[in-house]
Amino acid sequence: MSQIQNTDPIIGQQFGNVVAQSILGRGGMGAVYLGYHPGLDMKVAIKLLPDLFVGKRELVERFLREARVSGKLQHPNIVRTLDVGQSHGVYYLIMEYVEGIDAQKLLDREGRFTPMRAINICGFVARALGEAHEQGVMHRDIKPANILIARDGKVKVTDFGLARSITNTATALTLSNQVVGTPNYMAPEQIKSMDVDARVDIYALGVTFCQFLTGQLPFDGPTPMATLLNVVNESLALPKEIFDPLPREMREAIVAMTAKDPRRRLPNIAAVLAVLKKARDALRKAGLDSTEPLKGPPRSSSPAIPSMGGSSGSFSSRASTQLPRSSPDSFSKPLGSGPVTPPKPGGRKS
Ligand SMILES: Nc1ncnc2c1ncn2[C@@H]1O[C@H](COP(=O)(O)OP(=O)(O)OP(=O)(O)O)[C@@H](O)[C@H]1O
Ligand SMILES: [Mg+2]
Repeated sequence: MSQIQNTDPIIGQQFGNVVAQSILGRGGMGAVYLGYHPGLDMKVAIKLLPDLFVGKRELVERFLREARVSGKLQHPNIVRTLDVGQSHGVYYLIMEYVEGIDAQKLLDREGRFTPMRAINICGFVARALGEAHEQGVMHRDIKPANILIARDGKVKVTDFGLARSITNTATALTLSNQVVGTPNYMAPEQIKSMDVDARVDIYALGVTFCQFLTGQLPFDGPTPMATLLNVVNESLALPKEIFDPLPREMREAIVAMTAKDPRRRLPNIAAVLAVLKKARDALRKAGLDSTEPLKGPPRSSSPAIPSMGGSSGSFSSRASTQLPRSSPDSFSKPLGSGPVTPPKPGGRKS
């Protein structure tokens, strides 16, 4: 345990029934701590919201409202919200703790993902989004750091609705001079403060998919404002050295998900799952279906992501810890839960 953690005043503090034990990470919207819930005898994650909430009644009310809505989301690919409240003047959210790594850190480690690994992760994220969208909840901050990958390879999306509770204000992009939300993944209509709908999540998932494949952000800049201008004005560049060897369906999937005009973008998650399936089938046909990390043998911290369809090619949506043997080869609706496979033997230490 580092010295910083020992001197962190949050450690040892109680939030509801939960005591903060160590820090898990920091992001644009506060910090996340590991905690222990004695009543439930389980580890949980505590998200502390930044000071910008203090004294902003409207923001706080919206946050609480959104937390209540996202708390109702129950899906194997969505991190459960367990509690929300205020303690020591700080607003907090208690969530299911996912022991593993977030996709951004995994990407930093591996450089980029094989196409099949990228499709599998995005497919599970799409299922999570499908459930949320059906419940009327947008995510609004889909990006690799909000995609958690458990040690056993389960993929879980976190921070549902949280960005909305902050960004849906008159000061859509900046609060306390900080950019809220993540410019690199923001859809052009979000930046232009136009009406937005669930298609912003499809856009952000397309950017994430592209980043998984290339290891680069398709739109970036030296400042948040420069990035935002690039998102709005520049067309998406897909590096030839990555995409030329791949079936054209990979390129087509990204282009369809990231269209700047939302009317030209894939309209819903069912359509996203359909293009991902097409791309996956094309990869299999081309023999490009490795899901292992690109750099060398799998490391103890590089989880094996279960295939969206498993070897049978199914995209069944029933909650199960085993891949159904004879389900149809489709990403078909309902978009409920994703099959998960048991960990690969020898792939990781636990
Ligand atoms: N439920 C969780 N279980 C385990 N680790 C988590 C959980 N939620 C978040 N983390 C870890 O904490 C890190 C910080 O999360 P946080 O949401 O504060 O930052 P972020 O996702 O980078 O940015 P943003 O504030 O825009 O969401 C994550 O990247 C992840 O590694
Ligand atoms: Mg986050």
